[in-house]
Amino acid sequence: VKAYPAAITIFGAKGDLTKRKLIPALYNLFTDHHLPPAFNIYCVDFLAVDENEFRKDMLAGINEFSRSGTADEVTWNEFAERLFYIQGDFLKKETYTSLCEKIKAFEKQNEQNSSRIFYFATAPRFIEIISEALYKHNLCNRDGLDRIVIEKPFGTDLDSAKKLNRFLAKRFSEKQIYRIDHYLGKEAVQNIMAFRFANYVFEPLWNRKYIDHIQISVTEQVGVGKRGGYYDSSGALRDMIQNHLLQLLCIVGMECPKAYKSEVIRDAKTKVMKSVKAYTTPQVFKNVVRGQYTAGSINNMPRPAYRKEEQVQSGSNTETFVAAKLFIDNERWKGVPFFMRTGKSLPAQSSVIVVQFKDTPHKIFKDDIVPNRLIISIQPELEISLLFESKVPGLQMKLKPVEMDFTYKESYTETIPEAYEALLLDVLHGDATLFMRADQIEAAWKVVMPIIEAWEKYPEKDLHMYKAGSCGPTASGNLLKPFAKEWYELP
Ligand code: BG6
Repeated sequence: VKAYPAAITIFGAKGDLTKRKLIPALYNLFTDHHLPPAFNIYCVDFLAVDENEFRKDMLAGINEFSRSGTADEVTWNEFAERLFYIQGDFLKKETYTSLCEKIKAFEKQNEQNSSRIFYFATAPRFIEIISEALYKHNLCNRDGLDRIVIEKPFGTDLDSAKKLNRFLAKRFSEKQIYRIDHYLGKEAVQNIMAFRFANYVFEPLWNRKYIDHIQISVTEQVGVGKRGGYYDSSGALRDMIQNHLLQLLCIVGMECPKAYKSEVIRDAKTKVMKSVKAYTTPQVFKNVVRGQYTAGSINNMPRPAYRKEEQVQSGSNTETFVAAKLFIDNERWKGVPFFMRTGKSLPAQSSVIVVQFKDTPHKIFKDDIVPNRLIISIQPELEISLLFESKVPGLQMKLKPVEMDFTYKESYTETIPEAYEALLLDVLHGDATLFMRADQIEAAWKVVMPIIEAWEKYPEKDLHMYKAGSCGPTASGNLLKPFAKEWYELP
């Protein structure tokens, strides 16, 4: 890949994402020599902040949140020289003229065009405003070089997502638009494609004939923290299911793409997303469980009820937990439930996909057989294990399930990049494989819309309360019947 100089702009410089994820990721890419020799990072935000203070704050972010720990002084100083703070109101023309001057000066200094990247780490209401300004100021108009990166949430429902897609399409080509879902950048998620399509052992079994059901579980120990304002109007369905969990479903459920090429892969993912069966309102209440946490404790620390969290309305019915049973209506998956579960204030942080195989059809042993199970652990541990039956040593034919384990720790010495490192590098290289296309995002909204509508129509119906620190509402376990007795046990 030809390394153009990169002019990277981050709108929303003072936000959490910039400090916790974006700058640490860019810093690690720099440390590992993945950034082009010439690059500048322009961080734009409304507040008046001294540039040196801003840099210090970003260094504190790296020291606290980066996978590589405390920054090395020499490397940091080299990096910091290329990190700038621009105070600017996103609504004002001057912000963009000043940004434009800086980028042009950088390009002049390099005597070369640069690839311009504009990262929207802002509240969603600014996406259209900033896009329009970039367009008007001709800041992002070279198809092959200039790109915008848009964080979730992408719209708040199908109509707003469509509207936003149309708005962007009038100003940029689809090739320039990178809609981020950071789950797709996670190492263990990227590995699912390799696991499925580079090993001939599993793919022939990867269908309704051999698979009983699949569980996709993303649990979090954290509550809503300081994000109550955003979260209360979003909820777990929009915050997690519409994007991260449905993306995982696509990777697990997609057909083998014809080639490892961005558009071909995105076509395959979109196709499976479009095959997810949409529910009627009564079906929603039968197949989707919502919950909200009440006061409890985790690791012996008291936790407030969701309704008592900062910026959350006292009578809020927003769900902090969702469990759903979804079906993919195609030949491969007909009748195989995909169970999804996600929630906050649960006992552990864990993202796991469990593929439960069917029982053996012909029984020759006395013992009950535990069907095979493949467990793909995405975090905190990166592991794949296969559960299978084995004879217990001894003089009798007695069976017991055992595990065959692959752990990253034991198999690799390489460091594991953060999702944002992988994704930012892909943006710099112009590789959209791990980003969501307009049609895929709309297809994902189509899956959740009937659920949103049913819940909006009956705001209090079947909103199950669960204690912070418990595994969520018991109703979520009932959803699994008769396929499974319980959800994959949290660590
Ligand atoms: C974000 C959600 O997209 O993903 C958060 O908005 C959630 O609510 C987070 O906590 C989870 O990401 P991760 O990488 O920590 O599993």
